[in-house]
Amino acid sequence: MCGITGYIGKKIATDILVDGLKRLEYRGYDSCGVAGISPKSELYLKRVSGRVDALDALIAKDPLKKGVVGIGHTRWATHGVPSEDNAHPHTDCNKQVVIVHNGIIENYLDLKGRLLKTGHKFKSETDTEVVVHLIEEKLKTLNVSGAAARGAILEPVFFEAVRRAIAELQGSFAMAVLWAKCPNMLLAARQHSPLVIGLGDGENFIASDVSAFLKYTKKAVFMNDGEIAAVKADSVSYFNFQGKKLDHSPVTIQWDSTMAEKGGYKHFMLKEIHEQPESVENTLRGRLLPLNGDILQQEINLPSELIKNIKGVQIIACGTAYHAGLVGRYVFENFGLPTSVDFASEFSDRAKIVNKDILVIAVSQSGETADTLYAVREAKASGGKVLAITNTLGSTLTREADFVLYTHCGPEIGVASTKAFIGQMAAMYVLAIHFAVIRKNIFEADARKYVDEFLKIPRLIEDTLAGEGAISKVAECFAQSEHFLFIARHINFPIALEGALKIKEISYVHAEGYAAGEMKHGPIAIIYKGMPVLAIATTSKMLSLVANNIEEAKARGAEVIAIVDEDSRKIIKASKYIVVPKTLEILSPLLTVIPLQLFAYFVALSKKCDIDKPRNLAKSVTVR
Ligand code: AGP
Ligand code: GLU
Repeated sequence: MCGITGYIGKKIATDILVDGLKRLEYRGYDSCGVAGISPKSELYLKRVSGRVDALDALIAKDPLKKGVVGIGHTRWATHGVPSEDNAHPHTDCNKQVVIVHNGIIENYLDLKGRLLKTGHKFKSETDTEVVVHLIEEKLKTLNVSGAAARGAILEPVFFEAVRRAIAELQGSFAMAVLWAKCPNMLLAARQHSPLVIGLGDGENFIASDVSAFLKYTKKAVFMNDGEIAAVKADSVSYFNFQGKKLDHSPVTIQWDSTMAEKGGYKHFMLKEIHEQPESVENTLRGRLLPLNGDILQQEINLPSELIKNIKGVQIIACGTAYHAGLVGRYVFENFGLPTSVDFASEFSDRAKIVNKDILVIAVSQSGETADTLYAVREAKASGGKVLAITNTLGSTLTREADFVLYTHCGPEIGVASTKAFIGQMAAMYVLAIHFAVIRKNIFEADARKYVDEFLKIPRLIEDTLAGEGAISKVAECFAQSEHFLFIARHINFPIALEGALKIKEISYVHAEGYAAGEMKHGPIAIIYKGMPVLAIATTSKMLSLVANNIEEAKARGAEVIAIVDEDSRKIIKASKYIVVPKTLEILSPLLTVIPLQLFAYFVALSKKCDIDKPRNLAKSVTVR
């Protein structure tokens, strides 16, 4: 996790770095800091335990020197408690070299032992600090003072010291490094953690993701694993870890920075919930079968032969993306393709069942989730071909997968995933219908019927969102409840799981999602008088059974809040109703999830929780 920023140019670095950190805070926010080099080549640094606003306030009270080069970090601790001492940036013994790092140095204890023996003094408990001492060590062996005395340019020395230090590291890292003796060059390196370079006019940027610098430039280079970038105000050069020069062409990022801001909503989460009609449209755009099948085929480059020949699909994902995978299973199987879904973190042993006859679909908003990336590697090692569904261009997953389908939902800042989820589900439908036509599991005319209905979904989501006021009133009635139960059947069962996850994440209260038919086999015992039970009861072939399950819950004192459509409303007897538009049963999750997201949002709002940055969580979990 964590966010890294770096700047070199003509402007005051601290302002740009802190601004970038604010945009990256969703990646981690337990402590933060910035460092820079003054025009007199002095290294300066400020760190706080807490959020970027606290850092900003501290700098306002006690301004930093005005350098035009610097690095910043917002941390999500892995080694060492969140504290000022453990906050990045970290310096070497002589406060000449300074580093920010994202990831885990797996062999840090070995390195630390060795460095302690040679007299290095450690000031933090982090794994990161070993790297900066190691660079200091390498600078010594490269005889910096000799080189400086000869008046040699120190940039190659700095580069070589960092390169040699990196060669000794095991684990994952994205890092930015500065050396007081070499203020015209910032070094950035990447191995298994994201890092992107922003290319400006007489200024350049380093960041964990583009949102940190979009305000200044839309031109970016996504670094690959095993690369070092030497970033100067007027140029950026790329090298591999062996020191060989590489060429990279920049890409133009289409997102503008206001897209990544709150746009008038109180929280990113609410803004992102409201962006869902657009998210579905963007995921569908130009890709819907049967008319545009070729476009999709060209875009993801998935050979028709492979689609025809596979015997099944294996989905791997975590958290909300896993729930999208569960919906995907119903959708693929509806069109005749057997599908399994696993938590990426539990996939290890099952990876062995993957072979060339199984298409593996890895779903990840960030494309950086370590559990998902490891599962992908295991699946590939077993001979599986991997199709990634992700929202993040240039993410590690996109480079490891054989084929990529982007959800194009725009940046999702709220830690609780909403619009990315709807995009992931939409991608499942697009693929399932496309595969069904290619595999001749469906007549084209029937596919067209699904497509026609699917195209109405963005508007139906808008209609659902119009019910926000009513949903907020229902949520307020139950906001103080300590337990919530979500029940549903069949394709809406994953939505019950997702509704419960949303409440847990942002309100910190206990919530469970259950298959409605399973309740009577045990969990019904937890129901007490007044317990809120949210039941998804839209029109379906299971509706009468869901109605029975609702009665069973009511008989034990539950207050049932039913998610219904206009037809099922006539059948279901509940304490409260939330009405969503009617659509095909198979498409209903795209609508039923909306009130559950809003319900969770308003419960958290009543409880005054930190909705966009819930405690204990980070947006992208890059450790296993
Ligand atoms: C969603 O609300 C969560 N924050 C979390 O479950 C998330 O979906 C999961 O960590 C997977 O992330 P990814 O989609 O970026 O891989
Ligand atoms: N492992 C480092 C630490 O705990 C970096 C964690 C991060 O990525 O924020 O400080």
